[in-house]
Amino acid sequence: MNLNKNKPSNLDSWKKLNSNFKTLSSKTLTEHFAENPDRVDKLSINWESFYVDYSKNRLDKSTIDLLVSLAEEAGLKEGIEAYFSGGEINETEGRAVLHTALRTQDSSPVLVEGENILPGIDQAKKEMYDFADKVISGAWKGHTGKSIQNVVNIGIGGSDLGPAMVTEALEFYQNHLNVYFVSNVEGDHVNEIINKIDPETTLFVIVSKTFTTQETLSNAQTLRKWFLNHAPQAAVEKHFVAVSTNQKKVTEFGISPENIFSMNDWVGGRFSLWSTVGISICLAVGPTHFENLLKGAGAMDQHFRKASFDQNIPVLLAMITVWYNNFWNAESEVIVPYSQYLRNLPAYLQQGIMESNGKGVDRNGDPVDYQTGTIIWGASGTNAQHAFFQLMHQGTKLIPADFIGFAKPLYPKNDHQDKLMSNFFAQTQALMLGKNEATVRTELESQGKSNTEIEALLPFKIFEGNRPSTTLLIEELTPYNLGALIAMYEHKIFVQGVIWNIFSYDQWGVELGKQLANNILNDFESGKLDHHDASTKKLIERYQNPKK
Ligand code: F6P
Repeated sequence: MNLNKNKPSNLDSWKKLNSNFKTLSSKTLTEHFAENPDRVDKLSINWESFYVDYSKNRLDKSTIDLLVSLAEEAGLKEGIEAYFSGGEINETEGRAVLHTALRTQDSSPVLVEGENILPGIDQAKKEMYDFADKVISGAWKGHTGKSIQNVVNIGIGGSDLGPAMVTEALEFYQNHLNVYFVSNVEGDHVNEIINKIDPETTLFVIVSKTFTTQETLSNAQTLRKWFLNHAPQAAVEKHFVAVSTNQKKVTEFGISPENIFSMNDWVGGRFSLWSTVGISICLAVGPTHFENLLKGAGAMDQHFRKASFDQNIPVLLAMITVWYNNFWNAESEVIVPYSQYLRNLPAYLQQGIMESNGKGVDRNGDPVDYQTGTIIWGASGTNAQHAFFQLMHQGTKLIPADFIGFAKPLYPKNDHQDKLMSNFFAQTQALMLGKNEATVRTELESQGKSNTEIEALLPFKIFEGNRPSTTLLIEELTPYNLGALIAMYEHKIFVQGVIWNIFSYDQWGVELGKQLANNILNDFESGKLDHHDASTKKLIERYQNPKK
């Protein structure tokens, strides 16, 4: 079973959406609300402790019906089955995409090349949980007999962003271990970490699916060298473990097979936090919370697989993106979690969304003649309000926004929560309603401004409003709800890829830069620069001789 290769713009519902756009494009959100008193009930979903309100978007029920038809026509139903049941939907790499199997709560076999992968998943999880228990309880000792206090996760991309974001997001649930993440190949990054750790009490976790990634291997080598300046060779086995599919390379690096946690090539890097790649999360919060993270994701998987499209959160959110991206020509989407714990969710989703759907060639190998992957950005609210919200409120760009908030704080409720949430609600309201000329005029009059002053200030104080947003109001930031939230975005990515007829699970676009960096690294040594373009050559010369 595999994904079909239909060009979306040839589909009937796509054409109908073009007409729907023409009908609705001049209608404001305020007009939509005035015309449909039950709009909120129609355009919202309650699922477990999630309430998703997508009524503040430039669409109506007729648009949703057409978007649902588009999903059906594009073969989404069959696509979802192919995705969950191990179809080779990562066609250009010849792989299944089965991060969902890592969190399934169902014991029905999931087959890859005829073999049920669930027993292997359970085994890998058990090994990770046993190890985490030993480290957390202090039963696992460093080479001088002291228990572990610091964990350094060495990885990049999917081997860093997911584990780092979730560890940070679950800080409230964290135990005594200090967990650090080193990703960048920049020596200053690794040296800053070195300043914080003690070789006797530090565990290094090298996470690399391929175990060939330059940044990760350089950092791992530097840390091992530093470690061996303070400890004998035999101590490595107490302080270095690895997660990889590449057992051979890990062993060559000097890590013994008992210290290797396996992963599989049917888990893509950016979707791998649910696997042994999440070992730093598991060390930080312990197996019970990690298991709850998986359970929440598993529950969202079931919702996505089973709910009808018009009640399906990932499907609807994905289709709303398609609506703005392909009919309204919006270029970007902003994600604003009103939780400092989730400050790195936008950065994490940048990889998930843009590495997956930043593709310009369709599943037939032809260039697309419509827009694909959106640009993702964002930061935590209320900080973001004091940074980029000016542009969202009065700038010239159409920027659909996701607002994510939690009804309950994690510490006992105090007046901060109401202040936070009043901002959360006020911002989507302000974006939608704006402030018209009459209101601005009355306000300025009541401030005692003269007519001349009022006329001069008026244009700057008007907010045109009609700016769309979707609100996700979730009960509480628990590991379970976080798992569900991340899985929701993962499925949104999948749906968009299906509609846009692109392959979401490869990432060939990151290869060229890596290749050229290797060439340039060699050229630093040889000094042969003439084959470079003039600009690059000059830059390299300037780097090598800053005064020249
Ligand atoms: O950025 C490209 C990429 O291949 C990502 O997809 C991946 O998450 C990252 O590099 C790290 O790869 P690895 O886990 O193999 O070191």
